[in-house]
This record gives sequence, structure tokens and C-alpha cells, in this order.
Amino acid sequence: MKVTVFGIGYVGLVQAAVLAEVGHDVICVDVDSNKVEQLKQGQIPIYEPGLELLVKENHLAGRLNFTTDAAKGVKHGEVQFIAVGTPPDEDGSADLKYVIAVATTIAQNMDRHQIIINKSTVPVGTGDKVKTKVQDVLLERNCTDLSFDVVSNPEFLKEGSAVADCMKPDRIIIGTDSKSAEDTMRELYAPFNRNHEKIIVMDVRSAELTKYAANCMLATKISFMNEMANLAELLGADIEAVRHGIGSDPRIGYQFIYPGVGYGGSCFPKDVQALIQTAEKIHFDSKVLKAVEARNNEQKTTLFKKIHTHYDGKLKNKVFALWGLSFKPNTDDMREAPSRVLIEALWAAGAKVQAFDPEAINETQRIYGNRDDLMLCGTKEAALKGADALVIVTEWQAFRAPDFDLVKNMLTEAVIFDGRNMYDPARMQKRGILYYSIGRACRK
Ligand SMILES: NC(=O)c1ccc[n+]([C@@H]2O[C@H](COP(=O)([O-])OP(=O)(O)OC[C@H]3O[C@@H](n4cnc5c(N)ncnc54)[C@H](O)[C@@H]3O)[C@@H](O)[C@H]2O)c1
Repeated sequence: MKVTVFGIGYVGLVQAAVLAEVGHDVICVDVDSNKVEQLKQGQIPIYEPGLELLVKENHLAGRLNFTTDAAKGVKHGEVQFIAVGTPPDEDGSADLKYVIAVATTIAQNMDRHQIIINKSTVPVGTGDKVKTKVQDVLLERNCTDLSFDVVSNPEFLKEGSAVADCMKPDRIIIGTDSKSAEDTMRELYAPFNRNHEKIIVMDVRSAELTKYAANCMLATKISFMNEMANLAELLGADIEAVRHGIGSDPRIGYQFIYPGVGYGGSCFPKDVQALIQTAEKIHFDSKVLKAVEARNNEQKTTLFKKIHTHYDGKLKNKVFALWGLSFKPNTDDMREAPSRVLIEALWAAGAKVQAFDPEAINETQRIYGNRDDLMLCGTKEAALKGADALVIVTEWQAFRAPDFDLVKNMLTEAVIFDGRNMYDPARMQKRGILYYSIGRACRK
């Protein structure tokens, strides 16, 4: 099938590459000409396991092409994906300007029936807004005989395993009230629907809400667990024991109940905020979501508070080795990353940071530029050199079993602040390392 994807970000690029891999003929359109040029030359603008090879092979095979020419893109596809960003507006609601801009472009250039697929995460009612926009433009063009469908098809990929998630989706949500659009969507996704039925068809509004409900449920699990961790610490309990204790209940499960330094990334924070705003607009007070957000904002400061207390507030000129910058492992995405809250708090207190991350160094450099109080290091060991303490913010595999003797010897004081509970407190105590973690007592 001929497919056009507007927006070559984490979602658009991965989805396009995966669709090309199964044989569809895909054109990606983006307004960012640098990105388009990079991709044409085989350079991948983001880090995502498996993506580089997939993009290169399919581009070489001629099934995956990139352009800034929107008219060419619209002409190409039988279906038009909208996969552009929906960043938070000033009040936290989703800013739809990019989505509406693409809808306008499609309407300005379409010359036959089109299926417009909203892949971006958009508030309930956006399908109607896209439909109205397209109708208005077609009216301006005197082309009201041109028909189209607007389908909601939210994306559930996880950064860090985006290719695998798109190749083997848990579910494919299709929001439409059109039988013919449903048929086309079924044909498009047939290669991903072989093992068992994954397609769930519903109305557009329910599909739009399904995406928010999924992310808000996951964010709720994280904030709930962080609340338990804080309680455990105050009550003298061990949150890791509690985690195992509750995870064994199949109604709860082990997934997404890790205590830590709060959720980040481009989705959970903005989607929780956006759903709160959607509710507010219809005078509904979303009490649970507000609590989830408040707990998360506070949790992002938890490592700094521990550090501040340990040094009695005297942080001026202290040097911290920081392991992990991306908001989670296996990505270079720094959007809303807890590391940023910590780094900025340390700087505000006069401290310096020596940071290492397996993938997010370039992104950190792009965000913060060159500063005297930030040294970006090529290895985790280099970050330790001359540092007063080690702080772990992201649970990359490479941090699971470091050489603790080396860590101890390189630091001025043998102290680790671990925001991801990577190590056993008893072992740390035995090694003579002062070890602060989340929801567990610090053994002195
Ligand atoms: N990143 C994730 O893990 C994830 C997962 C599921 C859903 N989503 C949702 O998918 C959407 C896209 O997210 P993302 O992380 O891929 O965004 P992104 O910021 O990485 O990429 C968006 C791309 O759209 C391009 N763009 C903007 N306006 C355009 C236009 N008029 N025409 C063509 N291209 C245009 C931008 O240049 C950019 O390359 C968001 O709504 C997001 O909430 C993201």
C-alpha cells in the first residue's frame, strides 16, 4: 500500500520504517529540512535500537523515502498518517497547531479520497477538529466532492524498544465509524496481525481516550509506587521487599512498580497534564491525575533533597559524578528527564556535575551547551575522577555491576546516591560505601 507519514520523530520514523519493512511503499514528510537531508544520507537523528539498519535497508530498497515536499507526500499516499508533535500548551493542554497544520496541508493537496490517520496523541474531539478543518479547506478549494475519513490510530510504542513494539504491537487501536476506512486499516496492519487478533475497532473518541487512559494508568502506577517508597522510608520498611510482595499478586503484577526519581519523557508528563486540562474544560475535577502529577513533580527532587541533607546544604564547589542522563535507558531522549531537574538544582546550589550516559551525551550538550559546571564524560569511570560522590539517575545496564572498589577509590568520599535502587544496601554497607537509595534506609 502507498503510505505517507507526516512527522519524522520517534513515532513517525519508527512507524514508517516498520511499514516499509513489511513491504509498504512509504514517503515521510517533515518540515525540518536538516532531518530530511540527514535521513536521505543514512544518518538517523535519534537513537533507537534496531532503527538505523531498518531505515538504511528500506531506504536503499526504495520503499522508504524522505521529503519536505508536502504536496508530493499527499499525492503519494492512499493513507496519510499525522505523526507530528503535540507539545503542552501554556496551561498544559495539548497544542494542536502541528496536527491542524498537517490536516490543512493534506486538504490543500488531496485530489482523491483520503484516509487521514491521527497517530499523534491528541485530546478527545481532535478527530472532529481535523474533519472540520479539512472540510473548510475543501470548501475554499471548491472541492467538496472530494471525500475523506479521519481515523484515530494512537501509538503505544515505548522509546528504547520502539522498533520491536511496532513490529509486534500488543494491540492496534482503530477509531472509526467508517467500514471502508476500517477495511483499509485492516489491510495496512495485516502483516502485524498474524499471530492473533490484535485489532480493536471502536469509535474515534474512545480511541483518542484509550491512549490517554493507558499512559495515565502507567503514570499512576509509578506515582503510587513512589508514594509507597517515601512512606516505606519514613516507616523503616524496605520498598524493594514491598515491591516483590505486591508484584506477586497477578492482579497487580511486577511491571511498572519500580520506585525511582519520577517519570519523564515526552509522553507521560504531557499526557497526564493534557487529560487534566481536557477534564477541566468540561468542569470535571480529575483528582487522581492531579495527585499523580504532584507526586511526580516532588519525586524528581528526591535525590537532590538526599544530597542536600547529606552535605548539610554545603554544596558549593562539590563535584558530583552523574551516571544516566536520558529519561530512561536505551534512548537519548532528554525531554522532561529527572536528570535535568537534579542537575539544575545542583548548579543552583553551586555544585558541579561530571556526567556520563551511553547515548544522551550529544543531546545534553545540545541542551546545556558548554558550561564550567558541566563536564560530559566519555566513560562512566571518567565521570568519577575527582568527584565527591556518585549519583545514579538512569538505570542503564552498564551501571548494574560496576567495579565498586574503583568507584570507592576514585571518589573523595565513598558515597552513592542511587535514584533507581540498582544495588543491595547490605552489600554496599559491607564494602564501606554509604548508600542512599529510594524507599530503603541508608545503612551507616
Ligand atoms: N515519543 C514517544 O514515545 C511516543 C509514543 C506514543 C505516542 N507519541 C505521540 O506521537 C506524537 C509524535 O511524537 P514524537 O515523539 O514522534 O515527536 P517528535 O517531536 O520526535 O517529532 C515530531 C516531528 O514532526 C515534525 N513536524 C512538525 N510539524 C510538521 C508539519 N507540519 N509537517 C511535517 N512534519 C512536521 C517535526 O519537525 C518533528 O520531526 C506526539 O503526539 C506524541 O505524544 C509519542
